[in-house]
Amino acid sequence: MSKFYLTTPIYYVNDVPHIGHAYTTIAADVLARYHRGRGDDVFFLTGTDEHGAKVAEAAAARGKSPKEFVDEIVGHFRAAWQQLDLSYDYFIRTSDERHEHGVRTFFERWEKSGDIYKGVYEGLYCVACERFYAEDELVNGLCPDHGTPPIQYSEENYFFRLSKYGDVLTRAIVDADDPNHYEIEPAARRNEVLGKLRLGLQDISISRASLSWGVPLPFDPSHTAYVWIDALLNYATAVGYGDDPAQFSRYWPADLHLLAKDILWFHAIIWPAMLISNGVRPPRKVYAHGFFTVNGQKMSKTRGNVIAPAQLVERYGADGARYLLLSEFPFGTDGNVALDSMDQRFNSDLANDLGNLLNRTVSMVNRYHQGAVPPAGPVQPVDEELRRAAEGLGPQVERALDRLEFSVALEITRATVTAANRYVDATQPWALARTDRNRLATVLRTLVEAERLIAIELMPFIPGSARRMLEQLGVDPANPGERRWGAYPADGRVVPKATPLFPKLEVA
Ligand code: MSP
Repeated sequence: MSKFYLTTPIYYVNDVPHIGHAYTTIAADVLARYHRGRGDDVFFLTGTDEHGAKVAEAAAARGKSPKEFVDEIVGHFRAAWQQLDLSYDYFIRTSDERHEHGVRTFFERWEKSGDIYKGVYEGLYCVACERFYAEDELVNGLCPDHGTPPIQYSEENYFFRLSKYGDVLTRAIVDADDPNHYEIEPAARRNEVLGKLRLGLQDISISRASLSWGVPLPFDPSHTAYVWIDALLNYATAVGYGDDPAQFSRYWPADLHLLAKDILWFHAIIWPAMLISNGVRPPRKVYAHGFFTVNGQKMSKTRGNVIAPAQLVERYGADGARYLLLSEFPFGTDGNVALDSMDQRFNSDLANDLGNLLNRTVSMVNRYHQGAVPPAGPVQPVDEELRRAAEGLGPQVERALDRLEFSVALEITRATVTAANRYVDATQPWALARTDRNRLATVLRTLVEAERLIAIELMPFIPGSARRMLEQLGVDPANPGERRWGAYPADGRVVPKATPLFPKLEVA
């Protein structure tokens, strides 16, 4: 057994969750479930980023205190994650006392490193991004992400000597034997980071003198920690940094930080540098997935096209939403979520292909074999073909998931479902029921066994439906048997009546 500590970004609570937040968190959930299935000691962390100017401004705009406001919004995140059947082990809030204590501990030690100094910061700041921009990063003077003008900012801050870490970080990234080694994926993103790193690093501001909604610095309480420093530290405080050395050494370093490309620099450069400066090992891997548009457009409040996770769950169920989001485009690249074709994909992939396969199998075993799954009789090449496809599924899904290729894993599974449906059409069990009962036995058993293996592979992706699928096949979901052909119990029975896994949607 090995440990597997994975994280999502902690999301800003200036507003309620949307499907962008859901996307990363669902992906993390699939990995968490997959690793638990392999027997790993998994710690899956998500949570909320609650301090900073952005959240304070959102609270003020609604006439609430920051604390009152974040307590309310955080409820929406928890509710959304519950609706999506997300199995995180811990939900961290940066306003938790335990986290704040860890932040103070980190700063106390950090100050002794000699890497912290006081200076004056002058520059351009985008509150929506909670970050500074250099002139040449702006597009027509506007924030490249939000299209809004940054504010002119000038204040006395504490600084971190990030500038001295260029070589240290480059070595840590490129040299697998470096004691601080960490990986950045996909490769294209790694190259971008290395390219930017070659241009040199500047020291960064790590505190605010004018913002009280944050963690006061232990060595100067007139300053609060800069929200990004506070936020990044969640990954350490959640597993006991500063208060539980046993838990910390059990899970740290994080095995995987999942996030999108918008916040890669913070995770791939600033965070490892902070840790190294404080004598803590960096995470093992940072993976930046792509950004998606919705119907070709960036999601934004002004456009009014922000989709809440609940909207997808209402129409497609938790599993339908999970499946549709992860199968839409490859994880590592940018993509588009086409809402108009979701109904069709739901009907074709889930209701028709997968749902019907199970339905007709359970019905046939009942109709032709009184519900008892028969032992195999004579085997034909066509049976071998499906067997090979189903046997190959596990290793292929494993390979895809080890590379975070969620859509590939789902595509391979779908192909196996298609092969099983084709097998039914080719063997025509309803005809065999009249002409060849022996052969019928093999066909039914082959189908049940193939579907058991398909359901096992689908467990991390569509947990509720995969569980129901196994139950209908007469398999205990808590103990679905080995992931190899032939482990279906000798005296197995399907349920007396099939119930649809994914009821077909009326498409307008
Ligand atoms: N609070 C910071 C993160 C701190 S982590 C120490 C933050 N929060 S956020 O609410 O803006 O979330 C950004 C993340 O949400 C992205 O990195 C990504 O994981 C997810 N996404 C938000 N919109 C998305 C898309 N349109 N497409 C893909 N992922 C999306 O940044």
